[in-house]
Amino acid sequence: MQVLRGEATRRKPVWLMRQAGRILPQYRRLSERVGSFKTMVQNPEIACEVTLQPVDELEVDAAIIFSDILVIPEAMGLPYEMEKNKGPVFPETIGNAADIDRLVIAGEEGVHYTIAAIKLVKQALNNTIPLIGFAGAPWTIFAYMVEGSGSKTFTLSRSMLYSRPDMAHALLHKITQSTIHYLKAQVSAGADVVQLFDTWAGILSPQLYSVFSLPYLQQICRALQPVPVIVFAKGAFFSLAEIAQLPCAGMGLDWTISPQFARAVAGNNITLQGNLDPCVLYAQLPYVQKATIQMLQDFGPNRHIANLGHGVYPDTPLDAVKCFVNTVKQYEV
Ligand code: CP3
Repeated sequence: MQVLRGEATRRKPVWLMRQAGRILPQYRRLSERVGSFKTMVQNPEIACEVTLQPVDELEVDAAIIFSDILVIPEAMGLPYEMEKNKGPVFPETIGNAADIDRLVIAGEEGVHYTIAAIKLVKQALNNTIPLIGFAGAPWTIFAYMVEGSGSKTFTLSRSMLYSRPDMAHALLHKITQSTIHYLKAQVSAGADVVQLFDTWAGILSPQLYSVFSLPYLQQICRALQPVPVIVFAKGAFFSLAEIAQLPCAGMGLDWTISPQFARAVAGNNITLQGNLDPCVLYAQLPYVQKATIQMLQDFGPNRHIANLGHGVYPDTPLDAVKCFVNTVKQYEV
């Protein structure tokens, strides 16, 4: 929290995107027993337990609530399914104006189970470390609702931006309003900071990104002030300067951007987060340590939260993840 405010600290904080999940044997055991991802997300006691697993095992400096970005489409009336080894799938998708009309703007209670889980986690953490809330960025949620799943080309969602910009804005507006309600409820329940995941930022042209993503990120950051928001727009190297101008405290970076380049473009009034390539963690431990120290040096002493450049991959060796975390914690700025 200090680093997000721009204060100097003795060492840099560290957490990992996707720290709660399949890298941990205790998660895999629990997931096997419960049998369904959605049941885990929708049961506040289980979601709380999964959120705390990486805190206990890795001793990271923040917890992130166990949930998924796709709970928002579901709360709006478009349910998802999580298919083993395939990822999320929407049985129904959004293709025309009538589909959009049928969607509701989700209210505070739209995702009550995650709000309940946040309260449990907050109590269990007892103010030892902050709790990160999160949501998908409107553009990324839009892409899932229109495509129905991940995609190689995102033809349906990208082409709608050209052929029916009015419809695209109507849907993005509904997603944005729902997301603001959801994130405000997360904060009321105890989230100290929230992160917006714009996972599919990098498939848009700079022009489309500035029309169909940035204005909605801006609305969310504004609505949440003065709560710190971290915007992680994967692949959006072309928009670093614009993202840095949003009323957000932090910007997440993927590994394709050098720390020096990001700092030069973003200026000094924002905290940077990231950005070690998750694949570094498949190397030998001495290399993991060396690459981590190099990254810490490249970001300079101030306004940096150590993280990977994207979520940790499920089959990453646990000892390499621990090496990464411990290297950051031992590094004095
Ligand atoms: O530790 C944490 O980061 C908190 C929990 C979290 C999950 N999903 C749990 C999860 C967070 C922050 C997310 C965000 C999310 N979900 C994003 C944005 C971040 C990113 O990675 O870019 C996206 C795009 C999704 C949608 C989603 N959910 C996908 C594409 C998948 C399949 C991915 C895969 O690796 O199989 C999921 C499933 C999912 N969400 C899992 C977890 C722990 C794996 C479920 C399992 O197999 O047990």
